Amino acid sequence: MTVSMVEWHCGIGGVAAALGDAAKAVAAVDIHREALEIYRSNFPGHRAICRNIESLTPQMVAGWGFADFWWMSPPCQPHTVLGHRKDLDDPRSASLKRLLALIASLKPPNLAMENVPGFAESQSRQALLDTLESAGYAWTEEVICPTAFGWPNRRERYYLAASRDTSAGLASPKFDLIRPKPMGECVDAEYDFDARLIMDKAFITRYAGAIHEADRLHPSERTNCFTSAYGRSPTRTGSYLKLPNGEGLRRFAPQEVLALLDFPDTYRLPVDVEPRKLWPLAGNSLTLGATRRTLSRLAIFADRFAGET
Ligand SMILES: C[S@@+](CC[C@H](N)C(=O)[O-])C[C@H]1O[C@@H](n2cnc3c(N)ncnc32)[C@H](O)[C@@H]1O
Repeated sequence: MTVSMVEWHCGIGGVAAALGDAAKAVAAVDIHREALEIYRSNFPGHRAICRNIESLTPQMVAGWGFADFWWMSPPCQPHTVLGHRKDLDDPRSASLKRLLALIASLKPPNLAMENVPGFAESQSRQALLDTLESAGYAWTEEVICPTAFGWPNRRERYYLAASRDTSAGLASPKFDLIRPKPMGECVDAEYDFDARLIMDKAFITRYAGAIHEADRLHPSERTNCFTSAYGRSPTRTGSYLKLPNGEGLRRFAPQEVLALLDFPDTYRLPVDVEPRKLWPLAGNSLTLGATRRTLSRLAIFADRFAGET
């Protein structure tokens, strides 16, 4: 059975990539044109819509057709230290506020969302839970990092799953959906020769000790969380990769960042777009195993995840 969804803040399509043929987007909505182009080229059967969510009315959304579930990935800056934690007062929370009004009005049968761990302590979360309570949803939340399941990339995030089908309740998550994997399997040695990725000696000397240098041959290596600032800010935005034979360091290519988020090999980024434009899009996306784990709590995905434990 194919499940229908609205993928809000769809970006390059982490949810569509996580679900493959199991779901079809009646609407995948984002304001970022380049991200949507990549979405469209990877998921031509889904309906990608370039819109500001703040401008949408219940009538417009209802007109897209019925959706079994909505996934929301609102901007995380209102809940990060670097974003000054302005929470609901941050203008970047406006699309979430709009979605809360749309949930209250349209009551989609199932909902899920992802955000940074700071969301778990926020007024935004409380506003979301108040909306869910008033509209008759049951929900479950967790903050997890895929490394706790043996995945080789750190990305601690808040996840919520909610359903109005309160008789079935929310299932326990399927643990097997985040499968252990060596970090080296996410590396493509062809990028060792890409001059755009190689760090110069002055950079390596200046930031020695302040950056994480990942070793592809180390069986339990873990990369740091890749953020949307990877390639712009030198520290705390992701790991660097040691080149073979100790010959220096390079950045991870955007396609490798996606592999570290569990994107399938079939997912393609455009080859004619510079890495510096693709890193922010990859750094904004989702860990697909954790996304599937969250969705496995919803009864509508019982068939899709039936073989998992
Ligand atoms: C954290 S990213 C989500 C990325 C996505 N889940 C993915 O897999 O690529 C947040 C997304 O929200 C989009 N966005 C932010 N404000 C928006 C708004 N008002 N209307 C529509 N999209 C918005 C951004 O362009 C960005 O792609």
